[in-house]
Amino acid sequence: MNDAHGADAETAAMPLNVMEYEEAARRVLAPMAFDYIAGGSGDEVTLRANRAAFGRWCLVPRVLRGVGNPDLGTTVLGQQIDLPVLFAPVAFHRLAHDQGEKASAGAARSAGTIFIAGTSSTYPLEEIAPRAGLWWFQLYMYRDRDLTRRLVQRAEAAGAGALVVTVDTPLLGRREADERNRFVLPDGLSFANFLGTDVASMSEGSEGSNLSTYFRSNLDTTLTWADLDWLASITSLPVIPKGILHPDDARQAVEHGARAIVVSNHGGRQLDSAIPTLDALPAVVDAVAGGVEVLLDGGVRRGTDVIKALALGARAVMIGRPYIWGLAVDGEQGAQRVVEILREEISLDLTLCGCASVQEVKRGLVTQARCVENVG
Ligand code: FNR
Ligand code: LAC
Repeated sequence: MNDAHGADAETAAMPLNVMEYEEAARRVLAPMAFDYIAGGSGDEVTLRANRAAFGRWCLVPRVLRGVGNPDLGTTVLGQQIDLPVLFAPVAFHRLAHDQGEKASAGAARSAGTIFIAGTSSTYPLEEIAPRAGLWWFQLYMYRDRDLTRRLVQRAEAAGAGALVVTVDTPLLGRREADERNRFVLPDGLSFANFLGTDVASMSEGSEGSNLSTYFRSNLDTTLTWADLDWLASITSLPVIPKGILHPDDARQAVEHGARAIVVSNHGGRQLDSAIPTLDALPAVVDAVAGGVEVLLDGGVRRGTDVIKALALGARAVMIGRPYIWGLAVDGEQGAQRVVEILREEISLDLTLCGCASVQEVKRGLVTQARCVENVG
């Protein structure tokens, strides 16, 4: 990059889309880190199925509507965002870049969207919050309830706008690459929200994934709806369960005071063979009958994916791996670039669909494909 042809070489190598960012990230990341981020559980059936599900829907565009430069803005829980794409909670951003969550939060802020800081961040939430615009906090419930309560209080004090509680992870899914690699955090990285406590580090020496051992030892493996009630009782923040796939659970979540729901299978990292999120979405949307907003994540890689999810009833989507690939390639700028690519795609796709805004994306814009092509 420093030679006389640097600029040209860089332009030529600039990834054009999210998939190319993944390839570029693969080239710069240590294999243990890349495998952890990219991987799914078991045979990775759900990981692939999340993508494939988008290929089973077609867009049926409208024409001659005088649309150009569509408005991508929307609200989630009444909070204004510039595009219907949020940053999903992802553990350990410093595996991808030394600026870690601080850089990702900055990218979300520049993009005008919500950053969801994870319990398992590699900077403490108090250092992440000032870099974000709107941000929410993702909670893993630890067996130690006082520890959990203190974490929630800290997130609230630092200005989190909502609490996203992950409900699909009583135990960590078995990711075979991590087992083989004996995944462990490199020296210098830790569960930075817990510095000074005995859950700040992942002890080494497991036969397989040390993260798996950490989760089994420290997280609450027996969560119930009563625990969601407990959570709601200790915070004034809206509680948003993440990882709901069954319409009966969606109904129950609303009964237990959930303010929104995230349809998610954890990016294919938890139960393998779980239903792809786009397939689960319509029944969940019907079940909550407009009572709460429904978000979706898993396999969103293109502007058209976003439009399909919105047409099937999602208020907005979240991306996980895509912004981490950007972060790995070029820090804050890279993560920002990934969102800009999606923004440009959504804008173009809405225009070609004849929609002047995301609010105009309705169920009639999609139909089930008869001829299914594999998507990457
Ligand atoms: C995750 N995800 C996740 N979810 C969560 O609630 N807490 C967490 O700590 C993590 N950690 C995490 C690490 C990594 C490396 C990945 C890839 C994912 C899941 C995440 O929030 C989201 O559900 C998926 O990433 C969405 O799928 P895509 O966009 O990655 O396909
Ligand atoms: C993961 C956890 C930490 O998916 O959520 O790796």
